[in-house]
Amino acid sequence: MIKVRFAAALPEGSHCVVVLVPKDALAETAVPGDATLIRAAAAASRFEGEAGAVSEHHVAHASGAQRLLLVGVGQSSEEDFEKAGAAISARLLTSGETQVAVDLAGLAIKPSAKAVARLAAGAVLRGWRYDTYRTKLPEKQKPTLAEVIIVGAPEGIEGAWAHQSAIVEGVSLTRELVTEPANIIYPATFVERCARLKDFGIEIEVLGRDEMAAAGMGALLGVAQGSVREPKLLVMKWDGSAGAQAKPVVLVGKGVTFDTGGISLKPPGGMEDMKWDMGGAGAVAGAMLTLASRKSKAHVVGICGLVENMPDGNAQRPGDVVTSMSGQTIEVINTDAEGRLVLCDAMTWVQKKYSPDYMVDLATLTGAIIISLGHEYAGLFTNDDGLAEKLTSAGKAASDPLWRFPLSAAYDKLIDSPIADIKNVGPREGGSITAAQFLQRFVNDGVKWAHLDIAGMVWASKPGAVWDKGATGFGVRLLDRFVADNFEG
Ligand code: BES
Ligand code: MN
Ligand code: ZN
Repeated sequence: MIKVRFAAALPEGSHCVVVLVPKDALAETAVPGDATLIRAAAAASRFEGEAGAVSEHHVAHASGAQRLLLVGVGQSSEEDFEKAGAAISARLLTSGETQVAVDLAGLAIKPSAKAVARLAAGAVLRGWRYDTYRTKLPEKQKPTLAEVIIVGAPEGIEGAWAHQSAIVEGVSLTRELVTEPANIIYPATFVERCARLKDFGIEIEVLGRDEMAAAGMGALLGVAQGSVREPKLLVMKWDGSAGAQAKPVVLVGKGVTFDTGGISLKPPGGMEDMKWDMGGAGAVAGAMLTLASRKSKAHVVGICGLVENMPDGNAQRPGDVVTSMSGQTIEVINTDAEGRLVLCDAMTWVQKKYSPDYMVDLATLTGAIIISLGHEYAGLFTNDDGLAEKLTSAGKAASDPLWRFPLSAAYDKLIDSPIADIKNVGPREGGSITAAQFLQRFVNDGVKWAHLDIAGMVWASKPGAVWDKGATGFGVRLLDRFVADNFEG
């Protein structure tokens, strides 16, 4: 991962220099070298200082030629600064440069410490890669950029960076879990990768098949029964409130480490994507790491239902009826609608144990949400308008956007079963909503609950704001912000 350092002066020796330029403010921005020529060249290449725009130049330097990037910060919002940071590492990651110095001295505006910290976070996040399995990467495709040095950062930068750096750590864990293939990350190894959360003061509890059977989790275990991998329920506890918050905020993650569809087998095209069907669990684990590593003052419990959904001689069949921990019976119409079966038992267990006032689940639950929202928003479903507002505004501020969908009795009726209390799929129409209705049947009275369908957001087929193609780490920044804004006193 790219390192971040704050310094008073530009470093000695060879490095790239970045000068930040607000929209249309190049004339007022101090530029090294032949400023007149560079401004003219930038204007000729249509650089206007839009957030994330880059104009590359070279200036004379003791080391020979020094690369100079003019990087736009647009309207200078925090998000604009983050985009600028991401643009810097996108441009320089494999450029041959090892060090970049972002010189704030000549900047036409005075950025806040938070904005500068987000620039640094944007740079590290955009530079994140997972090259573990690339043994033959050509030299020129290997990352070279190792360090971002921010020169002349405003007062308060240490605190602002401590928070952003915790976010970077959490997002990195999530991306790692999501990127790893399903022969490497399965329930037991997911749990192992999270063992390091203990070093940050998180208490971990793990339930295996026997404990879950004893608790009566027939829905979750029904999904797991076609796999040779033992399912796990991973519980991560963080109490930074020193006992002041008796009830934790609960985060629940869908952790299907591979989803073949089971006996309702998925078609082969694109099935490899189902290695990231644990993206909700990955986001919960990453968020817990972020909260603990920045010593959040909140009381939060994260729980991940970890299973593999496989077809097998012992796999559950369409038409099977299972009994969930809540006592409700479920007719399994389609074994590919497995996420809700995993989540419902995890939700019942955590509500029984912690009686939370707030419970938020994250899940790559339906393909239908991708049809509705594409890859721009995750779907939000909730029984509480206040919680809708809290999550929507946290998502907006943290650049993990959410869009609310309806819930209602008419949708709920669509999942009544002729043989059991409920069936696990409704009609094709409104598939994301009936999935949410299913989950709502397992929410206890009085619990403010939200379900985030993040199926369109976990994995990107092209580079985005602060990610390359691949795992995005969606949800970590959102959950961190949601907790920070509402549960830290
Ligand atoms: N994990 C999938 C949903 C999914 C699909 C996530 C594509 C990401 C990309 C989920 O378990 C699933 O298979 N859902 C079914 C539900 C259907 C059987 C009611 C779906 O969306 O097709
Ligand atoms: Mn499925
Ligand atoms: Zn799934």
